[in-house]
Amino acid sequence: MKRIFQLTMILCAMMITSSCTQSGKNKAMVTKETYGTHKGKEVFLFTLTNKEGNVLKLTNFGARITWIEVPDRSGKKENVTFGFDTFEGMLRGDPYFGAVVGRYANRIAKGKFTLDGVEYTLPLNNGPNSLHGGPGGWHSSVWDAEIVERTEFPTVKFTWHSPDMEEGYPGNMHVETVYTWSDKNEIVIDYKCTTDKKTVLNITNHAYFNLHGAGNGDILDHELVIKAARFVAVDSTLIPTGELREVAGTPFDFTTPAKVGARIGEDYDQIKHGKGYDHTFVLDNKEEVDCSLYEPVSGRLMEVISDQPGVQFYSGNFLNGSRIGYGGKPFIHRSGLCLETGHFPDSPNHPDFPTTILNPGETFTSKTVYRFSVK
Ligand code: GLA
Repeated sequence: MKRIFQLTMILCAMMITSSCTQSGKNKAMVTKETYGTHKGKEVFLFTLTNKEGNVLKLTNFGARITWIEVPDRSGKKENVTFGFDTFEGMLRGDPYFGAVVGRYANRIAKGKFTLDGVEYTLPLNNGPNSLHGGPGGWHSSVWDAEIVERTEFPTVKFTWHSPDMEEGYPGNMHVETVYTWSDKNEIVIDYKCTTDKKTVLNITNHAYFNLHGAGNGDILDHELVIKAARFVAVDSTLIPTGELREVAGTPFDFTTPAKVGARIGEDYDQIKHGKGYDHTFVLDNKEEVDCSLYEPVSGRLMEVISDQPGVQFYSGNFLNGSRIGYGGKPFIHRSGLCLETGHFPDSPNHPDFPTTILNPGETFTSKTVYRFSVK
């Protein structure tokens, strides 16, 4: 009895509960528990419950989204994002699932770029190129974390101090990622970055989605809309050639709803280079919603809203079943897809692309919303 009491007390001490608004159906809240330790720092798991009783889980390891539990048309709730049963599983698993990726999401050709006549060299971790901020990028950092009190909705803020020359990038950078889980089942992500030296930046979230529920088959039947008249054409190492190609008449036309799998096997140079879709679309930015993803069986709909110039649509082409996720289910080929909002790959080497330079004294801010509903 005494032992049970002690254990309960320890568990209570591990869990800090912060309540938000209390009116409505449920009590919206955030709880925090210990998840593990890494690089000498404590890793936490945050559970955000909105008034609808839907759950978003986050961790400060990589400022990740690890769980998004939303209802289908009949009200049945299921987690629709990739993750692992334990922190150890996450450490062994795919490095990017749900993570905030920086300093530079996607690729920089040959790991080199020049700023004011100074050439910077980055670690090569993707064939001849540098990918996702290098092997020690922000996806692998243990961020500082705080539950933001007195907000309308459950909110958690992650901060990271990225030191000068971290993974080869100049400038001390202060990075903030704030996640808010609204009562309309919107994950609102607010990024804020400052630097003390001229540098480059491309920040994104790398969550994988499967609206059947993570681990339940592939995403080829999902219907996708991307409001983009052009996409960034790439070479066989997925580096932009410089061409912004019209989507019209190609397998890249998602301006009206199309199944992900409908044209993914076509004999088309860009599909071959990506082994499927692994391309940045140039967002038209004319309407509120930039992308929508609909899964007809469950009725789940996910809308993506971004203030960025592009979105990387990655159809999970490198997933091969070797990673095991929640409930022992393997992540099979194309069992999830990503819609990563941000800038174009390799922009530091393409002066005609929207700039990714951040100067001292400037503050980079950006917002991405993933909104879940049914239809
Ligand atoms: C991005 C890249 C892909 C792949 C994944 C991570 O989306 O464009 O090629 O590297 O990340 O596996």
